[in-house]
Amino acid sequence: MTLQPDQVREMFDRITPAYDRMNRVMSAGMDGAWRARAVRWAGLAPGGSAIDVCCGTGDLAIELLDAVSTQGRVVGVDFSERMLEAAAAKSSQVEWVRGDALALPFAQGEFDAATVGFGVRNLPDIERGFREMARVVRAGGRVVCLELTEPPRLVAPFARLWTDRAVPLLGRLIARETDAYRYLPASVRRFPPADELAAVMREAGLENVRYKRLSGGAVALHAGTVPA
Ligand SMILES: C[S@@+](CC[C@H](N)C(=O)[O-])C[C@H]1O[C@@H](n2cnc3c(N)ncnc32)[C@H](O)[C@@H]1O
Repeated sequence: MTLQPDQVREMFDRITPAYDRMNRVMSAGMDGAWRARAVRWAGLAPGGSAIDVCCGTGDLAIELLDAVSTQGRVVGVDFSERMLEAAAAKSSQVEWVRGDALALPFAQGEFDAATVGFGVRNLPDIERGFREMARVVRAGGRVVCLELTEPPRLVAPFARLWTDRAVPLLGRLIARETDAYRYLPASVRRFPPADELAAVMREAGLENVRYKRLSGGAVALHAGTVPA
C-alpha cells in the first residue's frame, strides 16, 4: 500500500482527532519515554534552538521546549493543517509552521538540532528528508530520528502480529479508520532496517551516526552530527 504525498496528508488530516489516543494504545504507553530519549539525544542546551519535522500533534516539539528552556526556540513543521491545529491547541510556545519536510522554509544552519518522530517513514525520499534536516542545522548540531523499525528475528513474529493484526483492529475500533492503520504496517515493511537507515543518514552527509533499538527493538532511535 503506497500513498502519494497528498494522500498521506489527507490521511493524517483525517486521523488527527484519534491520533494521540491511538499512539498511547499502539505503543502500550511507551511513546512518551521514547520521545524523552530522542530529546536527550538532540544534545540541546538552555537558550538553544530546535526544529521538529513532521511534528504531527506536537508532542516531540513540546518535549523539546524543556531542553531549550524559555529563552530557547522550538519550531514544529508539518504539512497537515489538522495536525498543526491540534498541536497549537497544546502549546503556544512552539512556532507551528505548515511546510514540507523535503523543502523546509528555513535558512542553512538556523537550528542547533533537528528531530523527527515517526515521520521519515512517510517521506517519498528519505535521504532528501535527512539532507533537508542537516541543511537547517548548524555544524556540530544533531539530527535525531525516532522511527518504527523491523524488530530482531526473535521478536519479529510477535511484533508482526501486533502491527498487522492488532493495530488495524484498534484503528477500526478507536479511530473508526481502516486504511490509515493498514498503511502503517505496510510502511514499516517498506522502511529500511536500522543499520540501512544509518547508512542513508551517512549518505545524506551526517557524521558519527549511531542508533539504539528501544523497547524490544520495534522502535529505533538514530542520531548523526552535521559536519563542519
Ligand atoms: C506518524 S505522524 C508523527 C507525528 C509526530 N511526530 C509524533 O511523534 O507523533 C507523521 C506526521 O508526518 C507528517 N508528514 C508526512 N509527510 C510530510 C511531509 N512531506 N512534510 C511535512 N509533514 C509530513 C504527517 O502530516 C503527520 O503529521
